[in-house]
Amino acid sequence: MIIDSYNRVHDYLRISLTDNCNLRCFYCMPEEDYDFTPASRLMQADEIATLAGIFTANGVRKIRLTGGEPLVRKDAAKIILSLSRLPVELTMTTNGARLHEFTDVLEEAGIRSLNISLDTLQQDKFTLITRRDIFPQVKRNIDLLLNKGIRVKVNMVVMKGLNDSEINDFVAWTKDTPVHVRFIEFMPFSGNRWTSNKVLSLHEILHGINAEYDFLPLKGGANDTAKGFIVPGHAGTFSVISTMTEPFCSTCNRMRLTADGKLKNCLFSQGETDLLTALRNGEDVLPLIQQNIRSKAKELGGQFTGKLEDVHAELINNRSMITIGG
Ligand code: 5AD
Ligand code: SF4
Repeated sequence: MIIDSYNRVHDYLRISLTDNCNLRCFYCMPEEDYDFTPASRLMQADEIATLAGIFTANGVRKIRLTGGEPLVRKDAAKIILSLSRLPVELTMTTNGARLHEFTDVLEEAGIRSLNISLDTLQQDKFTLITRRDIFPQVKRNIDLLLNKGIRVKVNMVVMKGLNDSEINDFVAWTKDTPVHVRFIEFMPFSGNRWTSNKVLSLHEILHGINAEYDFLPLKGGANDTAKGFIVPGHAGTFSVISTMTEPFCSTCNRMRLTADGKLKNCLFSQGETDLLTALRNGEDVLPLIQQNIRSKAKELGGQFTGKLEDVHAELINNRSMITIGG
């Protein structure tokens, strides 16, 4: 098993397949011109399979594919199918744009649950946030998966003054649709124009929903990052991911492998371990994995605490979200 110095067992690996994306969400991409990593520096399909095999042999039970956008990678289908042969729960976070091309692959890989990013239910605002005019396609793809009986969690990053007025529209969506909406507190990453006054807190989100709906808490799993709720009678649910105001680090079981093969033990970790170069040099990567996880900070990469006033985005040392991979 892979365990850190606070006795947290790490059995969940998130693998970024690429730092490329077919959308341009400003909160994820850095402001300046961004050069995507050249293919030769990315983990190749067989290297992903080898590394994933090492992690699963050491206790990993769940793998999530992320990006950038995982489905823009030309060999995405091949990678999905090869990882589906491992004894793990395989899932993915996607922007949904190309899901209609992958329904057969998802079925063959036995993927029963997906996270889809969607920050607004308004077409114009979608174009403003993502700089691509494909809202109808993403919405159609969500419906397509729901009709196939796949569980869909929708990630909605709440940004004050931009989409916070739509929170109750998302809750209304759960009335007749079995969709699981996750409201995510806006987080600071390199180049993403984060300021603390753009964060709507867990408390504020629930307060706003409570003005229109009565809701009940749902029982969560041991490693859940989301606090779940249901409006009685609704087909779907909603939850809040309160990284900024009520972090859930004490039960964290997550590790992240970036598309260029670096292991990060936290979204906000400053250090990273180059597993890909070690693998290419024929070195044993397991001790590197164990060492990296043993050095994991107690909370939020050791860079800030759950008090918004104390977060100074310009002092946080990190990659941009698109190069970390959700
Ligand atoms: N704050 C909060 N969530 C973010 N995501 C990307 N950038 C941020 C941010 N700055 C979300 C995406 C995606 C998930 C992987 O992370 O919307 O759904
Ligand atoms: Fe692409 Fe997702 Fe980043 Fe938007 S948030 S640019 S969809 S990777």
